[in-house]
Amino acid sequence: MAGKVLVVDDDASVQRLLQYTLKQEGYEVLIAGSGAEGLALWQRESPSLILLDAAPQGIDGFEVATRIRGDEAPGHHVPIIMLTSDKDVQQKVRALRAGADDYLIKPFHPAELLARMKSLIARFAPSDTLMGRPPMGRVHAYYGAKGGVGTTTIAINAAIALQGMGRRVCLVDGNLQFGDHRVFLDLGLDRKGIVDVVSAPAMDADLVKSIVQTHDSGIDLLLAPPTPESADLVTAAHMHQILEILAGMYDYVIVDIDKRLDDVNLMVLDVADTIFAVMTADLSCLKNVRLVLETIGHLGYEGNKLRLVLNRSNAFTGINVKSAEGALRRPIELQIVNEYRGAISALNSGAPFMVAKADSVLGRSVLDFARTVDKSSGDAVAQLAPVAGR
Ligand SMILES: Nc1ncnc2c1ncn2[C@@H]1O[C@H](COP(=O)(O)OP(=O)(O)O)[C@@H](O)[C@H]1O
Ligand SMILES: [Mg+2]
Repeated sequence: MAGKVLVVDDDASVQRLLQYTLKQEGYEVLIAGSGAEGLALWQRESPSLILLDAAPQGIDGFEVATRIRGDEAPGHHVPIIMLTSDKDVQQKVRALRAGADDYLIKPFHPAELLARMKSLIARFAPSDTLMGRPPMGRVHAYYGAKGGVGTTTIAINAAIALQGMGRRVCLVDGNLQFGDHRVFLDLGLDRKGIVDVVSAPAMDADLVKSIVQTHDSGIDLLLAPPTPESADLVTAAHMHQILEILAGMYDYVIVDIDKRLDDVNLMVLDVADTIFAVMTADLSCLKNVRLVLETIGHLGYEGNKLRLVLNRSNAFTGINVKSAEGALRRPIELQIVNEYRGAISALNSGAPFMVAKADSVLGRSVLDFARTVDKSSGDAVAQLAPVAGR
């Protein structure tokens, strides 16, 4: 739903036209035939925008706008577009003075109305629409069934895509010995990371907040140790605690891990709401995925906790999707296309393709992936419209 729009106008033909136009754009439409009714609906329904005729029956539009502005709670501002039939500049000035944010002279083109509405809704959407609601707190493990299948590539770019959709995302480099995120994202070895979290005297949300790094794309990062030897400092219990803290702060906590089934990785798989097992269509990958599926069965996880992601899906390997699905006896619902140059050049330049080349074939493929993931993580929160400008 694009938002709730309150139309205050006593002209039945205008009501019909607006109702039709706005509904087509996905808005919920409330109609008031008089100023008083408009005020009542504004109070009861908290619309996301008001289209206010300057001269509806009874209380006129200027008065309605003035009263709304007078009665609004501090920090609230419902965008108002005044609809006037008068080209006179005095009327426009009066509308703005009364508290309207914009005005349109009847008759107007629906496209112009919609454009102005969208920009106002984006401008006045409370910046805390997302900040103010509780985070979704989903932990997603990206598990590479084999090294080099593209787990890190997908984890990073999916994280950026989800962030672009208005989610708050933290990406954790769970590859503790040989984490690649500093390279993929062009961040120096001096940046703080997970070792700084576990070596602090006490771990809490404030500490974690002070250590996560914000990438230019907007995602936050918890980086792997700069050298392999400090990886041992991070225990499974630490990982558990860190993921719980992050889940309380973000919509998605995306953890990039490799194929090892050691204590730390098993903890990640355990805490995760969903495991995305990344694979390519080759025999050794299929073998590993089968073993992981078995392990997961032994661990007593629900079957649907794991989702298969076929990377480089359209690359020729001699094994097609159908036969891979047959071998694994599971559907492969998620696929990312093969585009070696796009992937490798992004990697080597330290600029993820989801930032620089979101419109490439690969970028669009990851965006589709992220949309599917976001949809299926769907609860009530997932329905929230993303806020522009984040
Ligand atoms: N969809 C893709 N198409 C083509 N090449 C890809 C794709 N995804 C990843 N790659 C390439 O595969 C290699 C391994 O990627 P990486 O993300 O480091 O894998 P992993 O984390 O599983 O070891 C990199 O050279 C990367 O550019
Ligand atoms: Mg990797």
